[in-house]
Amino acid sequence: MARWLTSRLTPAALHDTVSHTVAVSILRPAAAIVVDRLMAAGCVAAAAEADLLIAAAPDDKSLEAWIRRREQGEPLPWIIGTMQFCGRSLRIDPGVYVPRCQSEGLARRAATLLAANGHRAVDLCTGSGAIAAHLIAEVPAATVIGVDIDK
Ligand SMILES: C[S@@+](CC[C@H](N)C(=O)[O-])C[C@H]1O[C@@H](n2cnc3c(N)ncnc32)[C@H](O)[C@@H]1O
Repeated sequence: MARWLTSRLTPAALHDTVSHTVAVSILRPAAAIVVDRLMAAGCVAAAAEADLLIAAAPDDKSLEAWIRRREQGEPLPWIIGTMQFCGRSLRIDPGVYVPRCQSEGLARRAATLLAANGHRAVDLCTGSGAIAAHLIAEVPAATVIGVDIDK
């Protein structure tokens, strides 16, 4: 690999490539440690979660605190304050039920039905409002009401 690079790159490009490789080598162990810690804590998607934690943490101190919260079992969206649902970013406050990806099919089907039938929907026990938010985003002309006992 190194020989291939030296035979095809100009000295300047080679310098950039080597600098980049060194930078990646320095960063990689830190990310790998986060992945290892999350795996040891039982996180199934440790690598993906590590990426999200590292990307969202404003500084190293926050990252360490967030990793500890995750190691103790706190849901990732409560820690970083957001998650993806049906391809959209959703705010999740601590304590709010974290919508499941299995509910995305239901939300998409409901949006299709809503577009075709009357433009009114009530999302009972809405939790974060994930399904209601998807419905109103997909069918902006609709009236969507989400209700939850939790305030
Ligand atoms: C399992 S979560 C589901 C949330 C959401 N439907 C979803 O799939 O992401 C159940 C939700 O029902 C709410 N809930 C429970 N009893 C309720 C009631 N009597 N009236 C309204 N909401 C209720 C809870 O506060 C919780 O947010």
